[in-house]
This record gives sequence, structure tokens and C-alpha cells, in this order.
Amino acid sequence: MDICKLVFVICFATGIHCIPLFPYDLVDLTRNLGPDSIYYPILGGYEKVIEFQGSKEFGHWVFSNMLKMTEHVGTHMDAPSHFNKVGWNMHQIPINKMVGPGVIVNVKEKARKNPDYRVSINDMKEWEEKYGKMPDGAMVIMNSGWDAKYPDKNSVYGTKNVSDLKSFHHPGWHEDTISWIIANRHMLFIGTDAPSFDYGQSSTYPVHVLTSRENICGLENVANLDRIPPSGSIISAAGMKTVEGSGGPLRLYAMVPSAGANNSSVTNGTSNLLLIVICLTLFIKLQHF
Ligand SMILES: *[C@@H]1O[C@H](CO)[C@@H](O)[C@H](O)[C@H]1NC(C)=O
Ligand SMILES: *[C@@H]1O[C@H](CO)[C@@H](O)[C@H](O)[C@H]1NC(C)=O
Ligand SMILES: *[C@@H]1O[C@H](CO)[C@@H](O)[C@H](O)[C@H]1NC(C)=O
Ligand SMILES: *[C@@H]1O[C@H](CO)[C@@H](O)[C@H](O)[C@H]1NC(C)=O
Ligand SMILES: [Zn+2]
Repeated sequence: MDICKLVFVICFATGIHCIPLFPYDLVDLTRNLGPDSIYYPILGGYEKVIEFQGSKEFGHWVFSNMLKMTEHVGTHMDAPSHFNKVGWNMHQIPINKMVGPGVIVNVKEKARKNPDYRVSINDMKEWEEKYGKMPDGAMVIMNSGWDAKYPDKNSVYGTKNVSDLKSFHHPGWHEDTISWIIANRHMLFIGTDAPSFDYGQSSTYPVHVLTSRENICGLENVANLDRIPPSGSIISAAGMKTVEGSGGPLRLYAMVPSAGANNSSVTNGTSNLLLIVICLTLFIKLQHF
């Protein structure tokens, strides 16, 4: 009986170590939100007012702020209603349309040579040659290297005068690429590490129009894309549930399978199953003593 208990304890302890409870590394894709955050210059920036800060009235520390800002500031999402009158507002986006497999398209070299670069259909085909067909429900984000320029307004917008919208130079998505993805693949979000997924020289924002029409959401000023693989991550973009909201800053993050999750000596399915069966058998046997 004692032997049995001992084996159970050892087995259980080993089992716990062998089964990773959360076999992912979390990668934060979010910029700090504050007075330096990037926003489209014709919109309103970030304001914070301290509502309460102190310990006198309550006898212990209490702290609370009031925030006022455009919904399109810093690392943020666009709801389809941003460019489609009948598109989903923030509170209407189903939660299962806010999480999906990451498809990260690296165009850093091309954008470095040409700040007006737009991601092409060919870039998507090259991605698929390397990593296989784009998964359904994808979170498709371009990595242009613009992250490194944040939050310097002039280098982010590629201009000496951020008040002159026509002078902007930063990369984006080509509308033909978006039409190709919509017609042939399935995506939930389109994104970029630049301040807009329409390139800087655009004045009609065709990518915003095309994606919003399909209730595809957007992500702008995404950070740390170098820290996640081009394929294989899961990206969570669950934005706030603002009633009639057109977008909003969010805590964007990726789940990347951890090295241990792929380590057959740790997660070997057969041995895990075996351990669970042994544990359960011992557990049931112990009930009789
Ligand atoms: C910046 O652009 C704005 C809008 O076009 C213009 O009114 C302003 O004079 C420009 N500033 C400079 C320093 O060129
Ligand atoms: C896990 O293993 C597969 C197949 O060996 C490999 O393609 C993949 O890159 C690995 N993933 C990680 C996170 O190591
Ligand atoms: C796999 O797991 C074993 C045992 O925990 C560890 O010694 C080894 O370094 C791991 N390998 C990798 C590639 O993480
Ligand atoms: C899992 O472990 C068993 C027993 O140790 C071994 O026979 C099997 O080949 C392993 N499977 C993988 C996929 O590593
Ligand atoms: Zn936006």
C-alpha cells in the first residue's frame, strides 16, 4: 500500500513536469501608450488627467486616471466601421474573429530601399513557397522594419513636415494583393508595423476600403515582429468592446510554441498518455485502501 502511494506521488510529480500546461512563449507586440504615441496628425493625440491619486481620503493608496485620445493611436486596431458605414463597430466584432494564426510577411529589405514599397502578390506567393498555404482566419501582418523608427514622427511618416499629409512616405499593402487574398485565401486581420496599412502616398486608402468592406479588421504600429516566426504563431488582437467604436489601442500579443513544446523528450504524446494512464490507475487503486 505504501509502495503504491509512493509510486503514485512520484508518477504524479513526473507527469506534472512532463505535460506543459501552457506550451507557448508570449511575445508582446504592443508599444507603450503615452504622450509620445504615434497618431494620424489630423486626429487628436493622447491626454491623461489624474482623477485621483493619494492615500489621505481612503486611508490607503487609490489611483485613477481619465484618458482622452483618438481611437487610432499607438499600437491599435481598426474596426471595419472605420471605413465602412455598415461594418462592425468594436462592440460587434465576434471574439472568434479576433484571434488567429500569424502570417508575418518580411519586406524589410524592399522597404529600406523604397519607403513607398507596397506588399505584392508575389511577396505572398514567396511566403507560401517557404511556409505553405496561408492558414484560414490568418492575422496577416507586414514587417517593414518601420518598428525601429517608432516613435519619431518624422521618420515614421518619412517627412520633414508631419502636418503635410501629401508628403508622407512609408510602406503599406498594395490593393491588388489585398484583392488577391480576399479572393483566394481567408484572413481576419490585416496589419503593419508602419502607421497605416495604406502606404504614405495614398490619398484614397483603397486597402482600408477593401478590407473594411469584408469586415476584416486592421492593426497599425505593431511592434516586435522580429521576435516572432513568419509562420506558426497565434496572434490575439482582442480589442476593447467600445459601443459604436471605430478602433482602439489594444494589448496585442503573439503566442509562439515554446522550445519545450516541441521537445519530444518533454511532450512525447505516447509517454504522456502512458503516465496519465498509470497515474489514473494508481489513483483508482488508492481509493480502495
Ligand atoms: C507644413 O505643412 C502644412 C500643411 O501643408 C503647411 O501649412 C505648413 O506651412 C508646412 N510647414 C512648413 C514648415 O513647411
Ligand atoms: C518543431 O518541430 C517541427 C518539426 O520538426 C519544426 O518544423 C518546427 O520549426 C519546430 N518548432 C519549434 C518552435 O521549434
Ligand atoms: C529538451 O528537454 C530536455 C529535458 O528537459 C532538455 O535537457 C533539452 O535541453 C531540451 N531540448 C531543447 C532543444 O529544448
Ligand atoms: C515517444 O517516446 C516513445 C517511448 O520513449 C518512443 O518510442 C517514441 O518514438 C517517441 N515518439 C516521438 C515522436 O518522439
Ligand atoms: Zn487606424
